[in-house]
Amino acid sequence: MYRILPSHSKMRILTLLLILVSSANFTFGADLIYEICQQTVDPSLCSNSLRSDPRSANANLTTLGRISIKNAQKSAKAAKKLIHKAINSSNYTQCVALYDDAISNTKKCKKALKSRDYGQLNTFVSAAMTDASLCDGSFGRGVQGPPQLKFESIKLQGLCNIILVISNSLSGVIKLV
Ligand SMILES: *[C@@H]1O[C@H](CO)[C@@H](O)[C@H](O)[C@H]1NC(C)=O
Ligand SMILES: *[C@@H]1O[C@H](CO)[C@@H](O)[C@H](O)[C@H]1NC(C)=O
Ligand SMILES: *[C@@H]1O[C@H](CO)[C@@H](O)[C@H](O)[C@H]1NC(C)=O
Repeated sequence: MYRILPSHSKMRILTLLLILVSSANFTFGADLIYEICQQTVDPSLCSNSLRSDPRSANANLTTLGRISIKNAQKSAKAAKKLIHKAINSSNYTQCVALYDDAISNTKKCKKALKSRDYGQLNTFVSAAMTDASLCDGSFGRGVQGPPQLKFESIKLQGLCNIILVISNSLSGVIKLV
């Protein structure tokens, strides 16, 4: 049997429920990917690249970190392939070495994330970004390399920026939401 509550009590209960529901949404339903990507230089690259991985649904920061490192590694490998295909000069050797270094840095990122060493993670991700920009600059002052390579370089740096945001969120340097 139900007791009939006075209507102002019902209102109070309803209000309380609404507050509970909305605060629950705020805590658990917040779109972490959106929050991360808003902090990056290229939010749409960020969102597309993270959401392209099915594991990103409801993933926590660490898992999203793993996905973003994997994406950066893929991009560095794609850039290296482009050099193999497109370039044949002294700059070729330098860029291949730089992208080998970038790939190796993304592997180190994976380990640093796993051991929760976010300082190291920042170091390796910055090194990978430097590798890409050094290759861009290796074609000489004012000389552009192959456009596709430049595109991949910018993409890699954008993907690395996502890793930095995640790393800095995990270490508490920046606060999401
Ligand atoms: C993040 O999610 C992964 C996979 O579901 C889990 O193994 C890991 O413990 C989680 N990390 C944190 C800090 O909750
Ligand atoms: C690359 O350069 C070498 C020598 O510098 C030359 O023998 C070779 O044919 C070149 N390859 C292409 C694809 O241009
Ligand atoms: C290679 O780099 C040098 C400068 O480091 C530049 O002068 C030259 O044009 C570059 N070669 C090619 C094929 O881009």
